[in-house]
This record gives sequence, structure tokens and C-alpha cells, in this order.
Amino acid sequence: MSPQFRILPRAPGGRRRLVVGNWKMNPATVDEAVALAAEVARIEAGGVEVGIAPPAIALGRVSDTVRGTALRVYAQDVHWEQTGAFTAQTSTSMLAGIAVGSIVGHSEMRRDQGDSDARVAAKATAALRAGLRVILCLGESLAQRNGGETDVVLERQVRDGIGPIPRDLLAAERGVRSAIAYEPIWAIGTGVAASGSQASEAVRKIRLELLRIGVDGNATTILYGGSVSAASVGEFARAEGVDGALVGGASLKPEEFAAIVAAFR
Ligand code: 13P
Repeated sequence: MSPQFRILPRAPGGRRRLVVGNWKMNPATVDEAVALAAEVARIEAGGVEVGIAPPAIALGRVSDTVRGTALRVYAQDVHWEQTGAFTAQTSTSMLAGIAVGSIVGHSEMRRDQGDSDARVAAKATAALRAGLRVILCLGESLAQRNGGETDVVLERQVRDGIGPIPRDLLAAERGVRSAIAYEPIWAIGTGVAASGSQASEAVRKIRLELLRIGVDGNATTILYGGSVSAASVGEFARAEGVDGALVGGASLKPEEFAAIVAAFR
């Protein structure tokens, strides 16, 4: 293998460790979101960067609640345009002072809102241009995994979902602003997490494809997401190449989320 395609072992050059709770459409009220955020802000983070991604309507109040703490607030999605006739959408400029960044390309957005790889690239580009961080999600479905297509799907998602993002935006701060979350769709909300070796294999493939498109995959933080719990997290904290987690259901329980953060410390 040529040297430019060599995948380096775990956290070389201090790739940052990141654990983010994607609250999805939870909890049931904005008041509950504020209360949950206050509890999560007390988690002992050690060297791990900890974030939460509350629903858009709760972002303002949650952000005020955790201001001055180390907890970072992310949006769950962001639009590629700044303003205009885009009902229900949030632009990057609206997040200024409220969120440090946004998730883009979550499989639930691809499934329910029709996000394509091209749209994901446009959203990530807009966010990075605005100085926001991005957690870009990708991953294969069960049918794709069973059909032996995992590698081809990851290759395509990197090529078409990350490839169009201007390289200077991806190079900025050597990967500090952009992270990737490998979230196999079959593991999301099912209680059936991938194994550590499946995660490592996919993450390795993603880094290889990043290198192929001229992005420093070895400097890019890659998270695993999909049924991460206090019980399953050890598997991923030990998995080569996995730098953290994007956590759904378990991130709504502060004690369990704290245990997940602790596993990556
Ligand atoms: P679960 O942890 O609930 O499986 O959700 C994972 C996820 O989609 C995080 O973005």
C-alpha cells in the first residue's frame, strides 16, 4: 500500500475524542430539555469533548443554560442557504452564538427529509464556511450490509457527501471542525450495536476513502453511533480508530451518558 494511504492507529497526533448526545425529537418539552441540559453539563468530561444536540426549538434556552460550562451545543441539522423561502429550516447564521456546530446527514434526515449526499455536502459546506463545526453522518442499511455492499456505500457517501466540500474548509484547523459519525442504520435505535471490529473496519474504510479524495483521514475524528449504551460502550472505546460516540437514546439519561463519556476519557 502506498504511504499516502496508510491508516494510522488510534488517535495519532492527538485526534480529539468527542462524545455527542443526539437528542432527536426528545425530550417532550423545552422545559425538560433545559433541565436535562443542566444535568448533562455537570458530567465530568476529562479530556473528552462533550456535546448535546437538542431539537431546534430548544437550542436557544439550552444554550443559555449551559453557557460558561464545557458542554458544547450542536444543532441536529442546518440548511445550506442563509435566509429565504425554506419552511421549517434553520440557517447557519441563526446558530451564531447558540450552537458551535451541527450534525448533518443523519440517516433519519436522509430517510424522512430526503437528504442526499449532494445536500449533505452543501449543508456541511455552509456550516464550515460560517465557522461552525460539523458532525457528518454516514452508514449502510441492513440490506446493504447483507448484500456485501457496505464498502461501496461508504465509498460513495465519502466521495459524494464529502468530496464536494472545498478542501480548505476541511483542512482548517486540521480536522478540529469536522468530524464524521459512522452510524450503521441497522444499529440505530435497535439495541443491536455493531461489534467493535465492525466499527473499526468501517472507520478504517472511511479514512482510506478520505485519503483517496485528498482529505487527511488520519487527522479526522470519527465517531461510532448506533445503540451505544453504558453496557456496549466499552467495545467502541477499545476499538481501533474510533474516537468517540454519537449517542441517541442513552444520551437522554444523564447517568448513562456520563458512563459513556467516561469510557472515552
Ligand atoms: P441510538 O443510540 O438511539 O441507537 O441512536 C443513534 C443515533 O442515531 C445517534 O445519532
